[in-house]
Amino acid sequence: MNVLVLGKGGREHALVWKLSRSPRIGKVYCAPGNAGTALDGENVPFDPIDFERLARFCKKVNIGLVVVGPEDLLSKGVADYLRKKGIKVFGPSQEAARIEASKVFSKQLMRHADVPTAEFRIFDHPDPARTYVESRDYPVVVKADGLAAGKGVIVCKDGAEARRAVERIMIREEFGDKAGRQIVVEKKLEGPELSVLALVSGRAVLALPACQDHKAVFDGDQGPNTGGMGAYCPAPAATSELLQDLESTVFVPIVHAMKRGRFPFQGVLYAGMMLTNQGPRVLEFNARFGDPECQPLMMRLRSDLFDLLEAVTDERLDEIGETVEWDTRPAVTVVLCSGGYPGKYDIGKQITGLGAVAEMEDVKVFHAGTKLVGERVVTDGGRVLAVTALGDDLAAAKARAYEAVKLINFPGMHYRTDIADKALKAPKGK
Ligand code: AMP
Ligand code: GLY
Repeated sequence: MNVLVLGKGGREHALVWKLSRSPRIGKVYCAPGNAGTALDGENVPFDPIDFERLARFCKKVNIGLVVVGPEDLLSKGVADYLRKKGIKVFGPSQEAARIEASKVFSKQLMRHADVPTAEFRIFDHPDPARTYVESRDYPVVVKADGLAAGKGVIVCKDGAEARRAVERIMIREEFGDKAGRQIVVEKKLEGPELSVLALVSGRAVLALPACQDHKAVFDGDQGPNTGGMGAYCPAPAATSELLQDLESTVFVPIVHAMKRGRFPFQGVLYAGMMLTNQGPRVLEFNARFGDPECQPLMMRLRSDLFDLLEAVTDERLDEIGETVEWDTRPAVTVVLCSGGYPGKYDIGKQITGLGAVAEMEDVKVFHAGTKLVGERVVTDGGRVLAVTALGDDLAAAKARAYEAVKLINFPGMHYRTDIADKALKAPKGK
C-alpha cells in the first residue's frame, strides 16, 4: 500500500521520512512537497487544494492513507471530501478542525468543557469591543477569530493599543474579512509555553512526549513571532505528573465534548499550553502536528509511524498506547531561515553543506522551504531547513545540532543560537 502526505514544510518532510522507514508501506508520496520529501519519498507536483485531482491521484496510485500536514487544508474540508470518496485519511473533519480554525469556537468549547484557559470575552462588533477594552487591566491579548498564519494575535499594553488592535482586525480587516468578523479579548498570561500533542481517535487519547517551541525570531525570545524557530523534546518542564494532569483536565474533557457534540476529533490534537503560577492554561488548540515540534518527535519515535496513524484511523488507539517506543535520548531542532524572515525575504539561494551533514550520525536535516533545481537545492520559503539531532542529554543534542548547522550555508541565512537553553539553564531538580 502507498501513502500520501499533504503539505510542503519541515513537518511534512519529517512525516515522509519516518513513514518511508515503515516496512508496511510501498511508496510515500508528498503533494506538493519540497527538495527533502523528493529525496526521501516521491513528490507529486500539484496543489492538494484541488480536491478532485487529489482524489483521482489517490485512486490511480492506490493510496491507502492520506496524512494531512497543514491546517488550511483541514479547515477547507479535505478529510471530509476524501472520506466521502472512500479514501482513508489521518486528520480531523472540517467541523472538528474548527478547534483551530476558529478561536471563538475553541474558547467556547473550552468554557463548555471546563478546560483551564485565559478569561475571555467574544465580540462580533467593534463598538462594544472598544468600550470593553477601556475597562480592562493591562496587558490584554486581542485575537482575530479565524486562521491568520499565526499573525492575528495582538498583545496590547494599554487601552490605546487594544483599540487599535480591534480596528486592525474588525474594521481594516487586516487578517481578512472572515477572520476579522469576530474577536476574542483575553487576559495576557505569563509563564513558559509548552506544546503537548496527542493522538486522538473519538474518545481515545494518547499523549506524545511534550515539546517546547521557540516562537520569537531572535535569541532570548526577542523580535516578532514566527512559525517556530526551533524545538526540543522531551521538555523537562513536562513532568509525568503534569502530563497526567493535562490528560485528565484538558484532553479528556475536550475530546469528550467534541464527541458529544457530534464532531468527534480524529488525528493530532495539539494543546498550546502556558504554565502560569496559577497552573497550566490552554492558549490554543491546533488540529495537526506542530511545525517544528513534529521534527524532534519523529526523530525520537522508534515505533512504526504508520502503525500509530492507522490505529487512529481504525479506532484502535487504546490497543497501541502502551506499546509505543521512543528513543530515550532527547532531540533538538534548529530552524534555518531566509534573510528577512518573518518579514520579506528572497528565494532561490543555493544551499551548501547538506552532503557533509548527511554523513553525521544522529543528525537529520528536514527540509521546509527548499526546492530542487536540477541537482541543486535552493531556498524556496521563509523557514528553509530544520536541523535535528539526538544526543545523550539535551546539552549534547544541542551541541550536535549546532555542529551540523555550522556546515550549512546559504546567502542571508539566520537562526537562533539559544534553542533548548531555557531547559538547560533552568534550576536543577525540578
Ligand atoms: P495562539 O494562536 O492563540 O496560540 O497565540 C499565538 C501566541 O500568542 C501563543 O503561542 C503565545 O505566545 C501568545 N499568546 C496567545 N494568547 C496569549 C495569552 N492569553 N497570554 C499570553 N500570550 C498569549
Ligand atoms: N510551532 C507552532 C505551530 O505549529 O503552530
